[in-house]
Amino acid sequence: MKDISQLKEEFLKELKKAKKAEERRKICKKYIEEELSSVFCSIKNLAGEKRTKIGKEANELRRFILEQQKKEKEKRKEGEGWIDVTLPGNDPEMGTIHPLTQLQRRCVDIFSRMGFLAVEGPEMENEWYNFDALNFKEDHPVREMQDTLFVKQKNRESLPAKDKLLMRTQTSPVQVRYMEKRKPPFRIIVPGRVFRNEATDSSHEINFYQLEGLMVGENISVANFKAIINFFFQELFYDDIDFRLRPSFFPFTEPSFEVDISCSICAKKGCSVCKNTGWIEVMGAGMVHPNVLESAKVDSAKFNGFAFGVGLDRFAMIEHKIDDIRLFYGGDLRFLKQF
Ligand code: PHE
Repeated sequence: MKDISQLKEEFLKELKKAKKAEERRKICKKYIEEELSSVFCSIKNLAGEKRTKIGKEANELRRFILEQQKKEKEKRKEGEGWIDVTLPGNDPEMGTIHPLTQLQRRCVDIFSRMGFLAVEGPEMENEWYNFDALNFKEDHPVREMQDTLFVKQKNRESLPAKDKLLMRTQTSPVQVRYMEKRKPPFRIIVPGRVFRNEATDSSHEINFYQLEGLMVGENISVANFKAIINFFFQELFYDDIDFRLRPSFFPFTEPSFEVDISCSICAKKGCSVCKNTGWIEVMGAGMVHPNVLESAKVDSAKFNGFAFGVGLDRFAMIEHKIDDIRLFYGGDLRFLKQF
């Protein structure tokens, strides 16, 4: 059996070493519940006088430890448990709005001032809306594996086009989804995320954002299209931006154009962004193909219109002089906090 005065010494030594109140409380508990109770247990085997003496000493030590314990508890009440309500709190980390979202909102705002309604469609589409309804022929190369991310399905080949799923490669399917349920005239814009099976590099990503526009009515002309996008470019860049149309091809528009804007970085003098041409390609567009109107059950003899699609990432890259598209999707706060 341990000598009581030795036990007391050990207790005081341990108590002194403990830095935290929590530790000191644990030590008191240990000495009462373990050390002293084993002393009390063995006392009953002692005889006469020795038993009285050691019992007395052990009781004294017990009282002493209980006192220490009480002191610790009081300290806790005064100090540690006390909350200074006047201390400033921890600032929550404030986020910023993603540069692509900011741009998307500005574009939607500009078009809504011209009477365009913003609508959305599903990111997982089917082949019919993404291709067939848009006049893509069955063997169009864009349907191939290198461009489209198809969804794995059992017996995919035997399914009808409306059940074959894919990640939409463009926002154009929403043209048909919107038109087939309503009567013209239409004026919509469709912001949204699209997907391509690309090898990524500084100007290619497997997903990016488009803004689709569609205007359908009676006697709509290319002049109407030019007026609308002229307003859009002026508002977006607060600047005298020139633009030009070049002939192009899309299965769902006829005639089709590629729209270039004058390079605002070098003022048409030539730089790396415009590859020394003074122009930057920003938009695909054209007059809606009659077959598309018919897919959406719109009378193509009575109604016509135009459609366009812009890549928002490209716009944001020009606007902020960003040289790598992957920065938008990397989630790096050092990049994102700059906007
Ligand atoms: N959907 C086309 C693309 O992704 C762009 C486009 C939209 C072209 C509307 C013409 C009309 O490239």
